[in-house]
Amino acid sequence: MSTIAIMSRKGGVGKTTSTHALAIALNELGKTVLVVDFDSQGSITAATRASTDNGTIAHVLDKQKTLDDVCTKIKDGLFVCPADDELSTVETALVSATGREYFLTDALEDVKTDYILIDCAPGLGLLSVNGLVASQYAIIPTLPQFLDLRGLKSVLENIESLNSNKRLQANIDVLGVVLTQFDGRLNLHKEAEALLESEGISVLGKVAKSVRVAESAGLGLSILEHAPNHPISNEYRRIANVIVGR
Ligand SMILES: Nc1ncnc2c1ncn2[C@@H]1O[C@H](COP(=O)(O)OP(=O)(O)OP(=O)(O)O)[C@@H](O)[C@H]1O
Ligand SMILES: [Mg+2]
Repeated sequence: MSTIAIMSRKGGVGKTTSTHALAIALNELGKTVLVVDFDSQGSITAATRASTDNGTIAHVLDKQKTLDDVCTKIKDGLFVCPADDELSTVETALVSATGREYFLTDALEDVKTDYILIDCAPGLGLLSVNGLVASQYAIIPTLPQFLDLRGLKSVLENIESLNSNKRLQANIDVLGVVLTQFDGRLNLHKEAEALLESEGISVLGKVAKSVRVAESAGLGLSILEHAPNHPISNEYRRIANVIVGR
């Protein structure tokens, strides 16, 4: 079983879109997947049409419910643990709790799926730390432009500091960066890719920009389901194959 945090410091860079697409791509490869919505915006809950009627990740964190109680089965081998606004209330309560970095690790202890994908909220707050500490791997989507790449550096430093903190026992392997809304014809984007390479940061994938992606979430579908033969869908399938090969 592998747990992967999809995270970034900046908002709106394609974390949720990538989490959704990779969940479907891994499922297509015959893998069982649990997607954890770890963002009070509840974006992947909405995009997958997961129900919050039986509770959310907030209730699992404060031990009122189990994961089994709150998860929605989206299709065979694909489950979503939903989130809503209440997660921000729980985050506030967590700040003063003992073992505050391990609440998600504890919540995921008995999960039996092949993969757990954690769709993190933007930023480096306590929830993201929980997401990272619970994970063996991290994937960092970013837009291929200057200010976003700056944010990326602080994420990598943050992960290094978690890994080197003896008390936390974190061991997070950064699988790489996914460049989103990438246009290979733009010098700005080519330079961004070259900059990452020159700094030894691995580029796991390059996802083009398409209105088909924005459409798909509104339909309750990932891009792989909405446009199965689109190059973006194939790029996410390629990334899923890289993940499975690890
Ligand atoms: N490849 C793409 N082409 C076009 N639009 C995209 C692409 N990827 C994501 N988007 C759009 O960009 C917006 C932000 O994407 P998404 O919600 O996945 O980002 P996020 O990093 O999860 O955001 P947040 O930080 O708020 O959680 C959405 O409207 C989404 O549809
Ligand atoms: Mg998101």
